[in-house]
Amino acid sequence: MSRSLVLNGGRPLIGDIEVRGAKNLVSKAMVAVVLAEEPCRLRGVPEISDVQIVAGLLELHGVKIDSSDRDGELLLDPTNVEQAHVADIDAHAGSSRVPVLLCGPLLHRLGEAFIPDLGGCRIGERPINFHLDVLRTFGAVVDKRPEGLRLTAPHGLKGADIQLPYPSVGTTEQVLLTAVRAEGTTVLRNAAIEPEIMDLVAILQKMGAIISVQTDRRIEIEGVPRLGGFDHLAIPDRIEAGSWACAALATAGDIYVRGAQQQPMMAFLNVFRRVGGSFDIDDEGIRFWHSGGDINSLAIETDVHPGLMTDWQQPLVVALTQTRGLSIIHETVYENRLGFTSALGEMGAQIQTYRNCLGSSPCRFSRANFQHSAVVSGPARLRGAEITVPDLRGGFSYLIAALAAEGTSKVHGIDLIYRGYENFSTKLDAVGADYDLI
Ligand code: EPU
Repeated sequence: MSRSLVLNGGRPLIGDIEVRGAKNLVSKAMVAVVLAEEPCRLRGVPEISDVQIVAGLLELHGVKIDSSDRDGELLLDPTNVEQAHVADIDAHAGSSRVPVLLCGPLLHRLGEAFIPDLGGCRIGERPINFHLDVLRTFGAVVDKRPEGLRLTAPHGLKGADIQLPYPSVGTTEQVLLTAVRAEGTTVLRNAAIEPEIMDLVAILQKMGAIISVQTDRRIEIEGVPRLGGFDHLAIPDRIEAGSWACAALATAGDIYVRGAQQQPMMAFLNVFRRVGGSFDIDDEGIRFWHSGGDINSLAIETDVHPGLMTDWQQPLVVALTQTRGLSIIHETVYENRLGFTSALGEMGAQIQTYRNCLGSSPCRFSRANFQHSAVVSGPARLRGAEITVPDLRGGFSYLIAALAAEGTSKVHGIDLIYRGYENFSTKLDAVGADYDLI
């Protein structure tokens, strides 16, 4: 059973914490290992449950993993990759969406792959139709079976001309992980270009891939017959960094985030400055603090990179409950990432969600019936409540809200937060939070 936290809020969070490799790069870098014919070394790996899940999946497929030597370092040996049983994959994958990304690499190495039912956070439908479409374009054959999907490539995988309907992060990664060893050249248009994807491209280049990224969301990949190993330090987790920055703002605190980098966080830093938060960037990290006095309400729209990433939206909403006036949020990446706001309402926040697009960014949900915009009216005096973590980012946001609130809160289901926030209870200690784990 998942544990709970009892938090006593109402005091500023002050202190230093460190972020290590980004969850959303590390899990993909581990998948890339399956393409290699030599051992690989990944550094800066955080201790989060998503990494354990991917490690378990790789081990099921015959990858030998050694994490004992040095903190944050994984040695992965894919020399003897083998087929795993779909029931084992299913039992192990839990809510992870990683099995779908293993398809291309496994098709190259073994000629077949299985995908069980896929999970991930409950923040929308999160289908895999784009993934299956691109795999078919490369020549994969998808066979639906009661236990899941079986993929084969009877004529091998061949380079393709692909136009994504939306710059999906996972599908762009799928194309990269499949095209690097497909026969011939692949042209991918309307690709996602998140910094974590560029870090994956860097890893694949170290392995021997030939990939050019153009300025117009076009990526060209020349397939090569063989890929070697890599040694790579993962890009730091900008979502975790932004989440702690929001914790500083919402609690009128001051947090130094060692490891945070400016370039991948520019969109976040602009919002942080507009709202009235302060930050100071040095070579080692970024200090975030509340400047004192009122902070400003504002309008934000989430988008694919280089826009404001959707994973910052939930912690930002908590910080926006403390601003003066009306803030407007337009979520354009997921159709259902505002459901977490109802519990904030129970804590005293004034948040109204809307089906309309409250913003001008092109949005796939403009004619659909999804509550994907919100108006936050502040500043609200948050009070403690008993709430349950709905998803990873929403869960951390509830911790921020509980720490900003007056009185005691009980937050249930916190194990979900360990999927993406390394040692967060130790970090809560480091910033002076008053809490008990039960
Ligand atoms: N989509 C489809 N069909 C598909 C794939 C995606 O309709 O086959 C839709 C999704 O439903 C969503 C949109 O496209 O509405 C964007 O999805 P995308 O494929 O970009 O997201 P993802 O690869 O599943 C990754 C991160 C998410 C992050 C998004 C957007 C990982 C493991 N997950 O998901 O991170 O929010 O990109 O940046 O990299 C998190 O860390 O908490 C998290 C959810």
